[in-house]
Amino acid sequence: MPVTSDQLLEFRRHTPGVQERIHFNNAGAALPPDAVLQSIGQHLALEARIGGYEAAIAARKEAAGFYKSLGRLLNAPAKNIAFATSATEAYNKALSSIPFQAGDFILTTEDDYVSNQIAFLQMQDRFGVRLLRAASRPEGGFDATSMETLIRKYRPRLVAVTHIPTNSGLVQDVEAAGQLCRQYDCLYLLDACQSAGQMPLDVEQLHCDFLSATFRKFLRGPRGAGFLFVSDKVLDTGLAPLFLDLHSADWAEAGCYVPKTNAQRFETWERSYALLLGSKAAAEYALQIGLGAIQERTFRLAANLREQLSGIPQVQLLDRGEHLCGIVSLHVKGWKPMFLKIALEQKGVNASIAGRGAAVIDFAQKGVDWALRLSPHYYNTEEEVEMVVERLKEILK
Ligand SMILES: Cc1ncc(COP(=O)(O)O)c(C=O)c1O
Repeated sequence: MPVTSDQLLEFRRHTPGVQERIHFNNAGAALPPDAVLQSIGQHLALEARIGGYEAAIAARKEAAGFYKSLGRLLNAPAKNIAFATSATEAYNKALSSIPFQAGDFILTTEDDYVSNQIAFLQMQDRFGVRLLRAASRPEGGFDATSMETLIRKYRPRLVAVTHIPTNSGLVQDVEAAGQLCRQYDCLYLLDACQSAGQMPLDVEQLHCDFLSATFRKFLRGPRGAGFLFVSDKVLDTGLAPLFLDLHSADWAEAGCYVPKTNAQRFETWERSYALLLGSKAAAEYALQIGLGAIQERTFRLAANLREQLSGIPQVQLLDRGEHLCGIVSLHVKGWKPMFLKIALEQKGVNASIAGRGAAVIDFAQKGVDWALRLSPHYYNTEEEVEMVVERLKEILK
């Protein structure tokens, strides 16, 4: 069911920030709804009243609901979900759990997220792991044939794919990668940081062993919170991240520890319960609207925006791919990105910039060294899309 105009009014009523500016920076951080702010605020107030540890005990049941809600979001059992402080923390925990040996291959794509690429390069330097990247298709996104050829030839220990890169509207065919990983029995790590909350995700269909994401983007949760899905295959083979602590393992004897059997093996003891509860509220809010409806509206607003931007001669639209999402990326020759961002800000529009270091391969292919990202959310309106285009035109005049 698509989002109705009444629903839209309701979303906006519960998102006070939309009255002040046009928020098109969801690729950076989206506005949380009231429900998220209230959960966080209530728990912080409880901590202040009765004490942090006591508040955590009082909120135990509610906190356990986090795992169930995330499970519903991903079509996974609650025991396969871990809370994290960010997508990067979740991702690195997953990476650190794989016992790589010198000479093992990691296969990724040219569009994988910058921090993931840096982690692979560092592992190459430190452990002698070798990095492969599937070729990209001319129309954008990894080429599944190239991926299969590399899997057959090198039998990688890990295949790692970013669903939606930070710097463009591309949606990669992560189901195809999942099928290949299943067929050739490779571990599959999926970075869903920009797709979680923007479109439906079903780990059964995706065939992933790990899926990491953050809450502050399209899920509209708080900053400082993320999560990791861990498959039964991973849990049953006993993979455990470096380093375990008193929450993720039990110290059974002086010389022996026993890791948790569920995905909490990938967590650490200390966490903000306020953020965990705010994250739960964000996931439930998205589930209530429906991820299909969110995707339909977000993708449609972005497609409108691309179409209108294509009428501005100075604007070079950068999004490539068979399927494009809610992130709209563009370049304007001769402009310094920060000037453009500030000029938009002065006209009441929040946007974000991706510099060359965010996407060295993709930007080199496109012949640019930065992109401005305008990312409408489902709570934005068609009028706001038009207003942003008009304001950009005025700036570029
Ligand atoms: C595709 C992708 N993966 C991972 C991350 C990292 O997320 P976090 O900053 O929460 O660690 C980002 C952040 O922009 C991202 O866009």
